[in-house]
Amino acid sequence: MGRILIKNIKELVQVLEPQVKKLSGNEMANLSTIKDAWLAIENDLIVGFGKMQDWEGISDWTNLEVIDATGKMVFPTWCDSHTHLVFAASREEEFVDRIKGLTYQEIAAKGGGILNSAKKLQTKSEEELYQDALKRIHEIQQMGTGAVEIKSGYGLSVDAELKMLRVIKKLKQTTEIAIKATFLGAHAIPTEYKENRTAYIDLIINEMLPKIKDEQLADYIDVFCETNYYTTEETDRILAAGAKYGLTPKIHVNQFTSIGGIQVGIKHNARSVDHLEVMTDNDISDLSKSGVMPTLLPSCSFFLRIPYAPARDLINKGLPIALATDFNPGSTPSGNMNFVLSLACIHYKLTPEEAINAATINAAYAMGLENTHGSITIGKKATIFITKEVPNIAFLPYYFGSNQIEQVIINGKLIK
Ligand code: NIG
Ligand code: FE
Repeated sequence: MGRILIKNIKELVQVLEPQVKKLSGNEMANLSTIKDAWLAIENDLIVGFGKMQDWEGISDWTNLEVIDATGKMVFPTWCDSHTHLVFAASREEEFVDRIKGLTYQEIAAKGGGILNSAKKLQTKSEEELYQDALKRIHEIQQMGTGAVEIKSGYGLSVDAELKMLRVIKKLKQTTEIAIKATFLGAHAIPTEYKENRTAYIDLIINEMLPKIKDEQLADYIDVFCETNYYTTEETDRILAAGAKYGLTPKIHVNQFTSIGGIQVGIKHNARSVDHLEVMTDNDISDLSKSGVMPTLLPSCSFFLRIPYAPARDLINKGLPIALATDFNPGSTPSGNMNFVLSLACIHYKLTPEEAINAATINAAYAMGLENTHGSITIGKKATIFITKEVPNIAFLPYYFGSNQIEQVIINGKLIK
């Protein structure tokens, strides 16, 4: 471990005081930056930054690894607070079915969707799932992601849910990237429980949760609260049980229909409510009175051709928003946060500054990492990326589909 100095930074982006945990409403329009800057890293932490003209005399230039960032910008890495990146197989056949006219719901009704992924996962070993997920982690790191939340939910049996969570735990232990694990046993109703949903929910509550607690396999609990998946009453029951085991909710709500999932999330002090493509005025108003982080997933809307969440309405109501990928084989086969930012600017009409706030500090908040990630702040993790030479901040979301990130440093270690 050592000391790294990045000098001649064209613009050091998202410099925040430690007391800033998230940015809401109008605050999201401001992005705090320092032009012509330096940044100092010691071991895994950010230990200093400032303007180049003020560097001389602060410290000596020896015993440092110096990176010259002339023409380049430095950002805190993206935080991706909603993914399902442990999975057994891709699902291109459903992609083709949708091109031919079927909807996501129609595909699920004929045995595709989440149940299709769950079937494929049963026969895969923990080691195979781990190796495949590791490749996806390496891929997203190259695209600037330095913290990620990963869900279970393609197991849907005691053994397979635990298998997925153990894979996530092993990823936590063997990679530098910060990982949060979410238990999503209530992702779909397994076919064999179709006529007896309560028995499956009992299994989640009485068998899965105690084992997850014993092995410390999860940080959060999730439910797919949606028509044809879990009702609000079932969601309420599962979240109440999760709370007994110390699991905070981060839930899937309002993807296709507004059935009251947001209100259940608020009742259980969810850290975030995610998707929100379909919202009533009431939903927005209830959310604006809560402290729950609305998390939007524009690449899911893009891929499924479903409505885009009303991001501007949320911000106008004074709410914060976070952005995430939803990386999964069915609704969003992409872990590219840069593309998420472009879509957020184009379809939500966020300014680049708002999109960057949503993908850094607010996204860190959405996964409980706001004290260590999401901004350039002394004492936070040295988890940053250096861009290629770029003309300005807006160039990143503008130049969509291309990776403008040259180097990635995670916990003070150069990984790209
Ligand atoms: O967030 N909506 C629920 N779960 C995932 C999709 C899962 C799948 O299709 O495999 C999502 O979009
Ligand atoms: Fe999801």
